[in-house]
Formats: sequence, structure tokens, C-alpha cells
Amino acid sequence: MKEINICVLAGDGIGKEVTDWGVKALETAGKYHNMTFNFHHELLGHAAIQATGKPLPEATLERCKASDAVLLGAIGDPHYDLNPHLKVRPEQGLLAIRKGLGLYANIRPILLFDELLDASSLKKEIIQGTDILFFRELTGGIYFGQPRGRKEDGTIAFDTKIYAKYEVERIARMAFEAAQTRKKILHSVDKANVLESSRLWREVVQELSSEYPDVEVIHLFVDNAAMQLIKNPKQFDVVLTGNMFGDILTDEASQIAGSLGMLASASIGNEVGIFEPIHGSAPDIAGQNLANPLATILSTALMCNRGLNAPAAGKMIVEAVDKVLKEGYRTKDIMDKSTDPSKILGTREMGQQVLDTIHAIANEKIMA
Ligand code: IPM
Ligand code: MG
Repeated sequence: MKEINICVLAGDGIGKEVTDWGVKALETAGKYHNMTFNFHHELLGHAAIQATGKPLPEATLERCKASDAVLLGAIGDPHYDLNPHLKVRPEQGLLAIRKGLGLYANIRPILLFDELLDASSLKKEIIQGTDILFFRELTGGIYFGQPRGRKEDGTIAFDTKIYAKYEVERIARMAFEAAQTRKKILHSVDKANVLESSRLWREVVQELSSEYPDVEVIHLFVDNAAMQLIKNPKQFDVVLTGNMFGDILTDEASQIAGSLGMLASASIGNEVGIFEPIHGSAPDIAGQNLANPLATILSTALMCNRGLNAPAAGKMIVEAVDKVLKEGYRTKDIMDKSTDPSKILGTREMGQQVLDTIHAIANEKIMA
């Protein structure tokens, strides 16, 4: 039996509710794939500030570094939005852990489950069949650039968007390699008509393209990309972009998949990766058994595929989610007019439904 160490960072808001089910999904699928897990729970974000004064305590970073993978819930609390003068914020913990673990690539698959076509606010015929893989640069750009701060009497503020060639190159390579295994089209998104950092971005991507002659590269300005994404999402396959553009475009793209509550993500770099839903901490529904645990459960599938080298377990988890949706079960965020009211589930019931289905799939396989 392989002993696998997972660091669980529930974080804030609905984070604990959803990671609880991510942990159970891993344990359940793991049972059928010779994997046993040790889960270590550590603090990050608002929860960490309350307990230690720091958004990323050293113990958390150390534990992550010593783990095989990290499962993260969500970070953020309205307290800080109401008090913008506060210097210490939960999000700093998230940015620091990304940087601390060297996670320069944030991979966000926009995968549409056919059963959820009606949950999207977009037209069925536009979105059906969409399958996009985003590569968002995660440890550079305007999120980290120096200098940043305030001038004069506080009435002038500035941030710096900065990219080094190697930062563009390493994530671009990942995107090119992914494109080679998919439709061999790569859309690179920038704002090269205005920003110097984007001109460098474009140059580097263009230069690299000669090493991947089988991949067609299309450069797009971010404003156009935002429009094209809604107009005709199926034209995209692999999309490569910087930190902030990627943040914005993936939230937009989530609506193609029906709900932010469905999307998983992997942040990877050199060693241990973080696997997390792309949704936030949703303080308005925290603790009410309303959160959709599926994005976190799907994140554990990504973890199996990309972090633990256990694709069969990952496949089983995705299959279970698909089956649960096919059977008509929904959390509130993904229901529509046709949903059978008796199949509208809370967080716990949806989580349990997935576990039961994992068992059912495993038993079918054993019988077959
Ligand atoms: C995300 C989030 C974070 C980001 C926030 C919480 C700092 O929106 O992971 O997309 O902007 O990267
Ligand atoms: Mg975001």
C-alpha cells in the first residue's frame, strides 16, 4: 500500500464543508486503488490570522512542502472587504503559499457536463461540447510585481505588472505540451497593443512556437478574448495567459460550465501541487449545508491525475460525479426548472451521494 500524505487547508467560509467531502472522496476512491492517505490539517487565510496573526503560518508552509499534495478549500472573509485599511489579509496567505511552493502554473479545465447545459445562462447550442484548458501564470505579473503601494497623502496608488522571460517560457512550455496532446491549437492572451510586459509575453510565446511546429498559435488581446469566450467558446482548446487576465477569464469561463461550484483547478510547479476549487469562500452560505462540494471533489480527481500519478482513481471520481448528475441530483447552484425537487441536495447529501456512487462503480467493476 502506498502511504500518501495530503495537507488539507480548509481555509475560510465554506472551505471546511467542501474539503471534508474532498477528503472522503479521496479515501473512498483510494480504497479501490491501493492508496492510503494521511491527512494533515493546517491553517491558511482568515482562520490562520485569527489563530496566529499570520495569513500563512510557517507550520502550514512546512507541512505543505513535506506532503505529496495539498487540498485547499477557499480563502477570504468579508471582514477585510469592510475594513480595507487592514494591512493583513487572508488572500496574502494564498499568494504567499503559491509563491512559497513555486506554483507558477494554474491549470483550470472548463469542462461541461452535458447534464448541466440548462444551468448555464448561455444558450445550449453555444456551449455544448465546450472543453477548454486554461493555463494561468500564477506567481508573477501584477499580483507580485514591485514596487507597489501608495504615494503622496495616500491618494495615489500603484501596482507593477512585471514578467521575466523565463516566467513566460516555463508556463508557455506547459501549455504547448498540453496543446500537443489535444487539438493542437493554442490561444495566447495578452494586451500587447498597450502593455510592454505583454509584448514580451507575445515575443516569448512566438519564439517558442518554432519548437512546437505541430501547434497552431493564435495571439489574442484580452478584451477580445473575453468577448470571444462568450460568443463562441468552442473555438478555444488550450488557453495560455498571465496571472490577472487568467483570474478574470476563468471566472467568466466558469459560467459556460453552469456554475463556479463545478470547477476544479490544479496549481503546479516544481514539486508539490495545490488542488482547489476555483470558487471563493462564499461567506453568505457558509455553515448552512448549501455549498456545492463537487468542485472540490473534482479537484481531488485532478490531484490523482496530476499530483499523485493515480489516474485510475481520478477517473473513478469523475465518473462518480458524472453519474450523480445523470441521476438528476443537484445542489441549489446547479439546479434548473426541470430538477426534481426531491433531488435537490445539501453539501453533505451530495457528498454522500458521490461516495455511494464510487462504491457502486467499484462494485460493478468487480462484478464485470
Ligand atoms: C483565484 C482567486 C484568488 C486570485 C484570490 C482569492 C486572491 O480569485 O484563485 O482565482 O485572485 O488568484
Ligand atoms: Mg479568481
